[in-house]
Amino acid sequence: MHDLILTGPLLGSATKALENEFKVLRMWEAGDLDIFLHDCKTVRFLASAGNIQIDRAMIDQLPALEIISNYGVGIDTIDLDAARARKIGVTNTPDVLNDAVAEHALALMLAACRRVVDADAFVRAGKWLDGPYPFTGELTGAKIGILGLGRIGKEIARRCQAFKMQVVYHGRHEQKFEPFPYYADLEHMAREVDWLIAVVPGDTGTEGLVSRKVLQALGPKGVLVNLGRGSLVDEKALLDLLKTGALGGAALDVFADEPRVSPEFRSLHNVVLSPHQGSATIKTRWAMGDLFVRNLLAHRDGNPLISPVI
Ligand code: NAP
Ligand code: 8YV
Repeated sequence: MHDLILTGPLLGSATKALENEFKVLRMWEAGDLDIFLHDCKTVRFLASAGNIQIDRAMIDQLPALEIISNYGVGIDTIDLDAARARKIGVTNTPDVLNDAVAEHALALMLAACRRVVDADAFVRAGKWLDGPYPFTGELTGAKIGILGLGRIGKEIARRCQAFKMQVVYHGRHEQKFEPFPYYADLEHMAREVDWLIAVVPGDTGTEGLVSRKVLQALGPKGVLVNLGRGSLVDEKALLDLLKTGALGGAALDVFADEPRVSPEFRSLHNVVLSPHQGSATIKTRWAMGDLFVRNLLAHRDGNPLISPVI
């Protein structure tokens, strides 16, 4: 059996599948990371749970490394340039999570729009006896701007159409075969939509893309939904604008320094907070684990990688 480094704990089925095929070295249980890595000089396989940065320094400490399999589609925790320079293969888990993440996007939007969480608290607190809950908005007929009409963005778009919403999008490129109007300028799109949903990758090129200006353009009636990465949004500006009402609301699945969430969010009533749950269903995590392991086995057996990033 080959040795394999696993960076963090995973749902049972994925860990078991790894343990059936590899001798799993549990990085997160190591007392001293440098000693752990020093003892891994001959290890060729690394399985990333997405919990830590696989940076150049770490890659340099693993001279025999040949493959990094990432449990997730977002590969912002891996230094791709460092991997490329060493000809280390990197794989991720695209597509198998599209439905779950898109479904969660709609769950967050409905929760924010129909105030599901606040209304639940209202009933639990017995406040209904004092009078009805205030009327809410609705998704029907509203305009949504998708920042990142990729694999997941397209599934969100389809679901929004089922809710009779108008869908538009922004990305670096216009997608001529998609039926939705394209905005070349994000701020322009933010000014014209009721909802802005961010589902782009969190690499260096996208940091702070949802800037103060974009949030101001979204305005007091607009709502930001972020399922991409916390790094996409200027979180300080987001908090400032939510507090003053200059931005209508937010529904957030990802945060700048998760799982540490700024305490300022907790006291705001115009936000819905979710602990990075987009893909976190039993079915989807099983599918992600399966693809994640099959990529490692493909490399071990000399077969083409199933979902290579590089
Ligand atoms: P994808 O298919 O690669 O789509 C990414 C989209 O982002 C593309 O349409 C791309 O369009 C756009 N984009 C990339 N860089 C951009 C930039 N600088 N400015 C504007 N648009 C840009 O990726 P995916 O599979 O849909 O996944 C997207 C991301 O969702 C992941 O990387 C991850 O961060 C996040 N995610 C979150 C969860 C969760 O649980 N919350 C789960 C899965 C994934 P152009 O090339 O035209 O710019
Ligand atoms: C996971 C994700 O929560 O795929 C992604 O990019 O953000 C989520 O599916 C994460 O990757 C698990 O580590």
